[in-house]
Amino acid sequence: MKVLIVGGGGREHAIAMSVKKSPKVDKLYCAPGNAGIAGIAECVPIKVDEFEKMAAFAKDNAIDLTIIGPDDPLAAGIVDVFERENLRVFGPRKNAAILEGSKAFSKDLMKKYNIPTAAYENFDDPAAALDYLETASYPIVLKADGLALGKGVLICQNLEEAREGVKSIMEDKKFGSAGNRMVIEEYMTGREVSVLSFVDGKTIKIMSSAQDHKRAGDGDTGLNTGGMGTFSPSPFYTPEVDAFCREQIFQKTVDAMREEGREFKGIIFFGLMLTKDGPKVLEYNARFGDPEAQVVLPRLKNDLVDIIEACIDGTLDQCEVSFEDNAAVCVVLASEGYPVSYEKGFEIKGLENFDGKEDYFCFHAGSAMKDGKIVTNGGRVLGITATGDDLKQAREKAYKATEWVQFDNKYMRHDIGKAIDEA
Ligand code: AMP
Ligand code: GLY
Repeated sequence: MKVLIVGGGGREHAIAMSVKKSPKVDKLYCAPGNAGIAGIAECVPIKVDEFEKMAAFAKDNAIDLTIIGPDDPLAAGIVDVFERENLRVFGPRKNAAILEGSKAFSKDLMKKYNIPTAAYENFDDPAAALDYLETASYPIVLKADGLALGKGVLICQNLEEAREGVKSIMEDKKFGSAGNRMVIEEYMTGREVSVLSFVDGKTIKIMSSAQDHKRAGDGDTGLNTGGMGTFSPSPFYTPEVDAFCREQIFQKTVDAMREEGREFKGIIFFGLMLTKDGPKVLEYNARFGDPEAQVVLPRLKNDLVDIIEACIDGTLDQCEVSFEDNAAVCVVLASEGYPVSYEKGFEIKGLENFDGKEDYFCFHAGSAMKDGKIVTNGGRVLGITATGDDLKQAREKAYKATEWVQFDNKYMRHDIGKAIDEA
């Protein structure tokens, strides 16, 4: 089989690594990929938003299966373009990717189908939003409706901050057209858990849980980022929580999408908050998490290609999805200054230390080849993952492995997985 992966970050590197293990796959491409992915796949210089070019490549090269990694092309309908060309593709169509692409849509869906989430109101008009804020209680959460690289959420402590927030989202368009609409929702407290799942339109199979660390600095300080590290499984995702979510959230979401005529095939990523009133949905994503994929996929026992094919064919009910009884921790090595401004182009040394080690992974997020050397090329540069018998061992190993690679301006959090000690 010939497989094409669309994307070029750490998540796509993790997907590529999983796909590569499949005995069915004899040729793997990635577009655009990165310098790390180039070690296991042929990278093709097509950007993720060049749908026609991407589909033409798949046709010309007789690709049997294309897997879409990132959210933007999904929300913009890349799957529809591939299907129109009779190409086999994994991911939700545009009308289903809206589950992530519009927060207002997802909130209305949850309300209509009684899926637990924070109380909210949607706004198209800044004046109405400002009026609403006058009588709201604080803190309160403002969310740009559309995709904003995971950064379109503002937590406002008081009316003044919230007014500023409405201005920056809806009037100054800080997140572009993502801010044409806005959700204002109740502030919740509790632990966050990421649960990813495979969905074939009807059946949903849950993956092992994970936890992300979104803030840039130790102790959850600083700005929100795409994710500074993850661990899997989450010790807080107990069998009781799992039972609740299966009954009240997971299948209900899949059924709701079908009911709405928006059959969802692909990955649903449930961002959950474990509140004192039970688990509630913070957000849905329509793809693998990044860097959740970097801790969940190394623990997957199945052939990933088998599950993906079952999702496309609607036969997921016949698949048993299972995970190793171990744990994984991923520490992101970023460029100092991320997520605001940072320099690129520094040589990355020590990558060979990962060669031949089964329980260590160096996933490239932002790297490029320059003059025969691998250099930094993004805010998040590498995701260092280690597996271990338990979370503590995996964490110790992952942090040890962060010392194996060097580049100028290397930055990381030192408390990834600290929550494990409180479990
Ligand atoms: P989202 O992109 O919707 O997951 O939001 C990004 C982050 O903002 C989440 O991971 C939470 O940490 C935080 N957040 C989002 N919604 C809420 C909420 N209603 N209450 C408290 N924190 C929230
Ligand atoms: N790690 C969070 C996300 O992928 O959205």
